Amino acid sequence: MPTCTAAAHPNIAFIKYWGNRHEGLRLPVNGSISMNLAGLEARTTVRFEAGLPQDAFTLNGAAQSGAALERVSRFLDVVRGLAHSDQRAAVESQNNFPTGAGIASSAAAFAALALAASTAAGLELDEAALSRLARRGSGSACRSVPAGFVEWHLGTGDGDSGAVSIAPPEHWALADCVAVVAAGEKPVGSTAGHALAGSSPLQGARVADAARRLDLCRRAVLGRDFAALAEVVELDSNMMHAVMMTSQPALFYWQPASLTVMQAVGEWRRAGLGVCYTLDAGPNVHVLCAAAEAPAVSARLAELPGVRQVLTAGVGGAARRVA
Ligand code: PMV
Repeated sequence: MPTCTAAAHPNIAFIKYWGNRHEGLRLPVNGSISMNLAGLEARTTVRFEAGLPQDAFTLNGAAQSGAALERVSRFLDVVRGLAHSDQRAAVESQNNFPTGAGIASSAAAFAALALAASTAAGLELDEAALSRLARRGSGSACRSVPAGFVEWHLGTGDGDSGAVSIAPPEHWALADCVAVVAAGEKPVGSTAGHALAGSSPLQGARVADAARRLDLCRRAVLGRDFAALAEVVELDSNMMHAVMMTSQPALFYWQPASLTVMQAVGEWRRAGLGVCYTLDAGPNVHVLCAAAEAPAVSARLAELPGVRQVLTAGVGGAARRVA
C-alpha cells in the first residue's frame, strides 16, 4: 500500500500573483516572489489503495466533501495521469495555523500534497517538476516547494511555469509577524478572485509594471536591503488590493482592524523601526521585520485594537518528506 507523508510551509508573497492567463492550468499573468514561513506547516499523508471506490480527504480530523474534496480529487487526477494509475487515495492533512484567512493555507496544502501524492504514486519528481505540479492545485503552492526566498517565473506554458529558490533561508534573518484580525473563512476564495482580476481597469497597469517591481524586490532580497524591500512590498500589496477593490464585483478583503495595523506599521517605520506590511487575499496583516526585532514588533501588534493573535515565523525551508 504506497503511502507517503510530506510537510510544507505556507509562504507570504512579497510580489503578488493575482490573475491567470490560463485558469485551468493556473498559469499566472505575472511573476511573483515570496518567502516561506518556518514553523507554520501543512502535513499531509497520501495512501493509494486498490479497491477504494473514491478519494477521501480529511482536514484537521474532519472528513471533507463537496468542493474541498473535489479540488483534492481533481489534483490527484493530475498525479494519476502522470503515474498512469487509476487507484483512488485516502488523504489526511493537518495545518498548524488558521485555515482560509490570508495565511496561504492552500499553498502549504498543495505543496505538501504534491510531494506526498507523487511519491506515494511512485513518481520521482525533481524540484522543478514538483513545483509545477503543486501549481496545478493552487498557483502559490509552487512557491512553497523550493526553500527560503522563492521566485515563480511566468514561463511560456505548463512545462516551464514554476518556482525556484533565489536565496536559502539563512541568507537573511527576516520574520513575518502575522497580525490575525479574523480567523474565519474568507468570503471569496482566491480561485474565484483570480477569475475577476481582469475585470478591474487597474489590472493592466499592475501587470505592465510587474517586471519592474520583481526586479526591485529580487535586488532588495539579494542585497538584504530592508528599506528597498519595504517600499516595493507595500506598493505591490496596495496595487493588488486596488485591483481587488475595483474588480466587478468588488472584493474587499481588508477589515477596519487591517487598516489600523497598516497605519501603525507606517508610523513605526517613519519613527525608525524596520517594518512593512503586506496582505494576501484576507484581512490578516503580515508585518515583515528583522528576526531580531520580531519579539518587539509582535508585542506592539498584539496591543493594537482588533488584533486577536500574532503568529511569528522566520524563513522556512523546502517542502519535505517526513515519512
Ligand atoms: O494560490 P492562490 O490561488 O491561493 O492565490 C494566492 C493569491 C495571493 O495570496 C493573494 C497572492 C500570492 O501571490 O500569494
